[in-house]
This record gives sequence, structure tokens and C-alpha cells, in this order.
Amino acid sequence: MSKNQSETTQKGKRYTITAALPYTNGPIHIGHLAGVYVPADIYSRYLRLKGNDVAFICGSDEHGVAIPMKAKKEGVSPQQIIDKYHNLIKDSFEAFGIAFDNYSRTSSEIHHQTASDFFRKLYEQGEFIEEVTEQLYDQEAGQFLADRFVTGTCPRCNHEEAYGDQCEQCGSSLNATDLINPKSTITGSKPVLKETRHWFLPLDRYESFLREWILEGHKNDWKPNVYGQVKSWVDEGLKPRAVTRDLDWGIPVPVEGADGKVLYVWFDAPIGYISATKEWAEREGKSWEPYWKDQDTKLVHFIGKDNIVFHCIIFPTMLKAHGDFILPENVPANEFLNLEGNKLSTSKNWAVWLHEYLEEFPDKQDVLRYTLTANAPETKDNDFTWKDFQARNNNELVAIFGNFINRVVVLTNKYYDGVIPQPGTLTQVDMEVLEELRTYPEKIGQSIERYRFREASQVLMNAARLGNKYLADEEPWKVVKTDPERVQTIMYVALQIASALAVLSEPLLPFTSEKLRDMLAQNGNDRLFWDDIAGFETLLPAGKQINKASLLFTKIEDIEIEKQLEKLENTKKMNEAANKTAEPQKETATFEDFTKMDLRVGTIIEAEKMPKANKLLVLKVDTGIDTRTIVSGIAQSFKPEDIIGKKVTVLVNLAPRKLRGVMSEGMILMTENAEGKLVFVNPDEDGVTNGTTIN
Ligand code: MF3
Ligand code: ZN
Repeated sequence: MSKNQSETTQKGKRYTITAALPYTNGPIHIGHLAGVYVPADIYSRYLRLKGNDVAFICGSDEHGVAIPMKAKKEGVSPQQIIDKYHNLIKDSFEAFGIAFDNYSRTSSEIHHQTASDFFRKLYEQGEFIEEVTEQLYDQEAGQFLADRFVTGTCPRCNHEEAYGDQCEQCGSSLNATDLINPKSTITGSKPVLKETRHWFLPLDRYESFLREWILEGHKNDWKPNVYGQVKSWVDEGLKPRAVTRDLDWGIPVPVEGADGKVLYVWFDAPIGYISATKEWAEREGKSWEPYWKDQDTKLVHFIGKDNIVFHCIIFPTMLKAHGDFILPENVPANEFLNLEGNKLSTSKNWAVWLHEYLEEFPDKQDVLRYTLTANAPETKDNDFTWKDFQARNNNELVAIFGNFINRVVVLTNKYYDGVIPQPGTLTQVDMEVLEELRTYPEKIGQSIERYRFREASQVLMNAARLGNKYLADEEPWKVVKTDPERVQTIMYVALQIASALAVLSEPLLPFTSEKLRDMLAQNGNDRLFWDDIAGFETLLPAGKQINKASLLFTKIEDIEIEKQLEKLENTKKMNEAANKTAEPQKETATFEDFTKMDLRVGTIIEAEKMPKANKLLVLKVDTGIDTRTIVSGIAQSFKPEDIIGKKVTVLVNLAPRKLRGVMSEGMILMTENAEGKLVFVNPDEDGVTNGTTIN
């Protein structure tokens, strides 16, 4: 640790930084990354580099109705679902360099304990309203319906598929009984009202607290999208909110007379931040309490916009009611990311999945981190395109950052066998460049501290541009022939810039930063920290030996991008096929009509293209009765050589007819797969959906 570092540690502040706990009912995609995890990770890494005391907390959100619903659909147990996705998510975050101090899970013992204690404390303090009310009940399923178990029309915006807890169109938080024309998602039936006892958190009693704390206190420092949503909810009037559910998956309500009831998932999940901090502190052998109770701790929640109400109204009200806890200093929620012009969707598979990306681009974590940051949906919804991904890589990371570093390290090895040269007197230009370099920690830091990560990414790239331009202007590769002494100074200056970039890029491009530090041999005791860059005299001293160059970034070719676009194109086709409505049924056929058709099993024994026709194949078919010629319009779906030997269904008594001069004696039954390709009738084939016509 450098001297500067140990000084800042004493000055450092304590931060508790949380990233929304992902539901374990699906993998992570780029929308989650851009909205929550990448910005939270940049923020945490930056604060650590500044010498602050940081707890960066996350974990899996494993309760709620989504889990048993998914389990039912897949015919497995809820536990199997959460284990599968918890591991997948945890591993892919790690491989992507999201450096949580702890990634926990809400099914853990410590969380059940913490959440139960929290509930019991509020209960004992009399913070809840206990009430028997009429709730929606599915008689067919024998189950109460709430949250995702019920859909209906949103009373605020008339969206027809609002959920029992929230409308995804207008973002309103709802109670299931608010829905117009409610419908059970389990059986599709219309629910009835049935009495049940629940505990409600009276949000309405906290209106003045919320007004004072957020609407007055954070008018200027919270993002306008977050502030605006909070204001409109408070202005609309807050209502008591049920924090228990009639469900068998979750944390049992820890009071008497609550059999068969669990805590509402949005009651337990945010407490998960606290349990995960406890688990981490225990492991580290320190106290968790300052991270949640000390007024000097800065608590920051990173979330997507659909989580605003829970993190700005409900959870703070819980914390306030409890009494022991600090409140968030900021909740920098992001808008949504789209993919190639369409809304990301787990159910439609319209996404770039993190675990798949990591397989397909195993050493390109930073490229995705950079693209998602440079185009982050900070103030409005934004679009991710593969073309932009390619351009960010080729035109910025490769052409500017990578190019600069490569030149510096290659030339240092070439001219000086990798030993940092002794500089001569610095010119005006040298001094100006170094002076400008010293301003970057402050500039990038300012952007990050204001949650402007897009801006931070561009300022970082400008620091690399500074280096690139310096070398292009000074042209050491030319000057070396006439004034080798001057080149020593140029390379010395360029190396200082490279060293600064290794530090400044760490929050945003951690893999690159590490590689660069390795190249510059600055990964040991001489490792630098953020504030070292601001006032430096020397970052890399003359006489120090560095290592050989290795490429930080490589060009992404068109073919790789086309492959990704094709993958999405296929997804689109699959979705269209899934949405395709079957043709209406034809007129009734009598049994006699049917028996007139003589259907036989046959084998294709020869196949060739009909000359000058692009759709037709001429087939010889062994029908068991005879061998006959059949002309079939399938040339665009099959190559002749691929179908020889195939067993097919043949209508043998279809009246013969001439096609292009060839007599066709029968018809082979075909159908279509999801991609619109003809296939022989085999309803079991992948992608053949119910209702597809056979003809
Ligand atoms: N699982 C929720 C979601 O994905 C987020 C939970 S955040 C927490 O929308 F606060 F509840 F933990
Ligand atoms: Zn709505």
C-alpha cells in the first residue's frame, strides 16, 4: 500500500452499497447489468480505490410467488429452481468482475432469522394494522391470489395485464383487489373474495416523514426520474400495504395465529441487504452494525426503475418504523435498456444472457462493461445494438486505449529493453500533458460520485486520447533517428500516462486495468491508488523494469456480430411461430370422406431437382404397392441427397397430374416447423406446434 493510500484510509468514509437482489427464476441479462450491477460495481470499486470502507452487498431473492410458479411449470421443486439460478447468477457475476463483498441468498438461515426478528420487532412495537379483509381467492386452485398469481386491468392506466402487486406499464404499485376484471394466473378462473387475516404496514402514517425526508430533503440530489415517481405516489395518497401472504413458499410469519402465512417477498427481500451484511461481517470478523446504524455511513441502493417504490417508500418506512437503522442517502435508479429496438423480455428470450455472453466472448468482459456504461439508460430508456458494441470496441477500446498502451509498451521494450528511461528536461508540451493528466482523477471521480457513469466512461476515454495524441504529435519512432535523448523523455512521459490509465480504468475496466498493471509491473507493493494520480511527481520511476506487451483489446470482426444478430433473428422467428394462430377448422368430413383417402407409409428411394424449377423435386417412392414418381414442392426445404431413405406418409390415390411435363402420382404429407421450413409429418419433431396443418 502506498503512503497516500494509508492516509486516505483514515479519512475514508464508510459506505454500504447495495445492488437489487435478483430473483432466482431466470439468468441475468444485459438489462440487469446496465441498469444495476455495472454502475454499482464501478461505484464500489472507485470508492475502494479512494480508500473508503466499502461493503458492496447483493444476493439472490428466492421467495415470492414467481419461484413456485416457475417450479410448477417445470415440474421440479422450488428448491431446485433457486439452487440452479442462484449458482448460475453467482458464478456469472463473478466471472464478469462484479466484485461484491458478499453475494448471499434469502433462503439462508441468517436471513430467515434477521427477517423474522425485524417483523417481530415491528409487531411488538405495534407498527402493524392487523385486519381480516376480503382477498382474491381461486376456488379451483384452493388458494389465495396476490402479486403475480393474479392479473387484471390496471385502475390507473387501463393496461390489461397488470399484476396483483404492480403494473409494469405505468409502474404503479397495486393491491390485488385494485385490479379490474381480475383473473387467476394459475387456473385462468375468475377469483372470488374470501376473508383472511393479514398484517398491514400503514404507509399513510408515514406521509409527512416521506415528504420531509425525500421531497424536501433530497429535492436536488436525487435523480429527477426517482424523485418524480416518489412525489407522484405520495401525492396520490399512500395506503396501508399488506406485508404477509397466504402462501407456502417464504418466511413463515413469526407470530401466533399466522399458520400458512409467509412474509410478503418485498418485505423480506430488502432485509436481505442487512442479512448479507451480517454474513459478510461475521466472515470478516468485524461488526455489521456500523454499516446499517452509524449516521456517518452512506447507504446507496442501486436498482432498476421498477423497484423505485419499494426502495424509496416501503423499505425506508420499514427502517424508520424499526427505529435502529439509517436511511438511504441516494437511490440512483436507472431506466430500462432495450435490445435492438425491442423491450428485453425473459419470457420471449429477447435478451443477451450474461452466462452465454461469457461463453461466447470469454475474454471480453470489459468490452460489454464499457458498451453498457457508455450507453447506459441513465436518464431515459436506451438501446443496445451489436453494431454499437462492435464500434465501441473497434473504434474506442482498440483504436484509442489499446493502441496507446501497445505503442508505449512495445517501444519501451524495443528501445530500452523494458527499462523506464531517465527523462531529460521536460518541454512545455510535456508539462502541459502531465498537468492535464493530474486533473483526470477529479474529473472521473466527480462523474462517478454524481452517478453519471456514461460521462465517466467518456472522460476515461479522453484520458487515453490524451496519451494517444501525445505520441502521435511527438512521434518518438521518427525522433529516435535524430534525437534519441529526447525520445527518452517522450517515452518517460508516455509511461506516466499509461500508469495513470491503469488506475483510472480500474472501476470501469477491471480486467484491462489488471493486465495493464501486470505489463507495467505495478501489481505488487507499488500498486497505486486513485489519489496517487492527482498530485504525482512520478508514477513509474526511471530504471524500473516493465514486462512485454500483450494486447488489451482485439478487433471484433463483422462475422461475430452477424452471428449474434442471426441468433436474435431466430428468436424472433420462434416467437412468431409460437404466436401464430392455427388456421380455422375446415368443414366437417364424414367417415366415408376420410376412408376415401388411401394413406400409406413409403420410402424415398431417389430424389433429384426438377430442371429449371426452384421449388420442385422429382422423387421415386417405394409405396409398398409399387415404385412411383411423385413431384413435390419441397426443394427449398430439402437437398435431394438428404432425403433419400426417408420414411414418409403418402396419399397414394390422389388423382395423378402433370407438373412441368412429369406425371406425379400421389402426394407426400408435409408440415411446417417454427422457422417456416417444411418438414415431413412427424409431430414429435422440434418446433412443430399444435394446430399446424398437415397437407
Ligand atoms: N428481486 C427484485 C427484482 O428483481 C429486486 C429485489 S431488491 C430487494 O425486481 F430490495 F428486495 F432486495
Ligand atoms: Zn398501469
